[in-house]
Amino acid sequence: MSRSGYTYVCRFDALEEGVPRRFEVEGVPVSLVLTEREVFAIHDVCSHSAVSLSEGEVDGFTVECWLHSSRFDLRTGHPLDRPATRPVPVYPVRIEDGDVHVQVTGTP
Ligand code: FES
Repeated sequence: MSRSGYTYVCRFDALEEGVPRRFEVEGVPVSLVLTEREVFAIHDVCSHSAVSLSEGEVDGFTVECWLHSSRFDLRTGHPLDRPATRPVPVYPVRIEDGDVHVQVTGTP
């Protein structure tokens, strides 16, 4: 981890638009999602039951949990549909020189 609290995760080029990728960042499971212009980092565990959101489908600014179809807003982590009712943490992302860094401090 750098002094800023951001941790290098991968090269930007390693991400494919609309295809979530799971990483362990400082021991925290994180799904990185490249949308049209932006990279989002969302906790890679659904708040309804502990399955990986990186195995879900991305549509716009949402990722849909594959197990019961709750969609989560990648910008806020809030669920848009039941059965999930609790948000999932989202983390700040920085891109520097083609490197993707994520800040996972303050995780649950
Ligand atoms: S496990 Fe994700 S919505 Fe149920």
